[in-house]
Amino acid sequence: MKVLIVGGGGREHAITWAVAKSPKVDKIYCAPGNAGIAEVAECVPIGPMEFDKLVEFAKTHDIDLTVVGMDDPLVGGIVDVFEAAGLRVFGPRKNAAILEGSKAFSKDLMKKYNIPSAASVTVGSPEEAYAYLKTAKMPIVLKADGLALGKGVLICQNLEEANAGVKELMEDKKFGHSGDHVVIEEFMTGREISVLSFVDGKTIKLMSSAMDHKRAGDGDMGLNTGGMGNFSPSPYYTKEVDDFCKKYIYQATVDAMKAEGRPFTGVIFFGLMLTEDGPKVLEYNARFGDPEAQVVLPRLENDIVDVFEACIDGRLDQLDLKFSDEACLCVVLASDGYPVHYEKGFPIHGLETFRGKTDEFVFHAGTKFNKKGEVVTNGGRVLAVTALAPNLKEARAKAYRAVERISFENCYMRHDIGHAIDEAESEGYPV
Ligand code: AMP
Ligand code: GLY
Repeated sequence: MKVLIVGGGGREHAITWAVAKSPKVDKIYCAPGNAGIAEVAECVPIGPMEFDKLVEFAKTHDIDLTVVGMDDPLVGGIVDVFEAAGLRVFGPRKNAAILEGSKAFSKDLMKKYNIPSAASVTVGSPEEAYAYLKTAKMPIVLKADGLALGKGVLICQNLEEANAGVKELMEDKKFGHSGDHVVIEEFMTGREISVLSFVDGKTIKLMSSAMDHKRAGDGDMGLNTGGMGNFSPSPYYTKEVDDFCKKYIYQATVDAMKAEGRPFTGVIFFGLMLTEDGPKVLEYNARFGDPEAQVVLPRLENDIVDVFEACIDGRLDQLDLKFSDEACLCVVLASDGYPVHYEKGFPIHGLETFRGKTDEFVFHAGTKFNKKGEVVTNGGRVLAVTALAPNLKEARAKAYRAVERISFENCYMRHDIGHAIDEAESEGYPV
């Protein structure tokens, strides 16, 4: 089989790595890929939004399966374009990717189908927003309706901040049309958990839980990022949480999308918050998380190509999804200054020390080859150094030891990835 992966981040490296393990696969291409992906796939210089070029490539290279990792092309309708060209593709169609593409849509869906989430209103003009905020309880959360590179969520402590947020999103249009509508949402507190799942339109199969570290700095301080590290499984994902979510959230979401005439095929990523009133949905994503994929996929025991095909063919109910009992943790090495301003182009040393290892991986995000053929930094998040071990604490120790083998100028990382492991242990959860 020939497989094409669309994307070029750490998530796509993890997907490509998993696909490369499949005995069914003879050749993998990745568009556009990166320097790490180039070790397992042939990278093709086509951008993820160049749908026509991607279709043309898939046709001329007899691609049997295309897997789309990123949100932008999914929300933009890449799956519809591939299907119209008679190509097999894994991911939600445009009318289903809206689950991530429009927060107003997802909030309406959750309200209509009684899926637990924060109370909210959606406003369509700054005047409406200012009027609503006057009597609203603080802190409050503002969310740009559309995609905003993960930066469209503002947590506002008081009315002044909230008004400034409305101005930024709706008047100054910081994220363009994504701020035409804004969801104003009740502020919730609790632990956050990421749960990824495979969906075939009607059946949902859960992957193992994970915990992200979204803030740039230690102690969960600083700006929101795409994610600075992650681990799987989460000790907070107990049987009670699982039972509750199975009853009120997971299948309910899949059924709701089907009932709306928008059957979802692909990965649904449930961003959950464990509140005092039980688990609630913070957000949906229509794709694997990044870096959730980097810690969940190394634990997947199935041939991932079988899972993709079962989703596409609507026979996920016949598949037994299996995860190893091991724990996995990754530390993201970023360029100093991420997520705001940073330099690129620094050579990365030590990558060869990971070659051939089956319990330590380095998934590449922003990397490329320079003219001399060296691997250099090429983005905010550069690498995800990942370790598998019998338990979470060992995975953490191993990942941080492995980090020592890598060096590049201006390297920045958090030193407390996995702090929740100790917190969970002190609260009596099994870790
Ligand atoms: P989202 O992109 O919707 O996941 O939001 C980004 C981050 O903002 C989440 O991971 C949470 O940390 C935070 N957040 C979003 N919605 C809320 C909420 N209603 N209450 C508290 N924090 C929130
Ligand atoms: N790590 C969070 C995300 O992929 O959205």
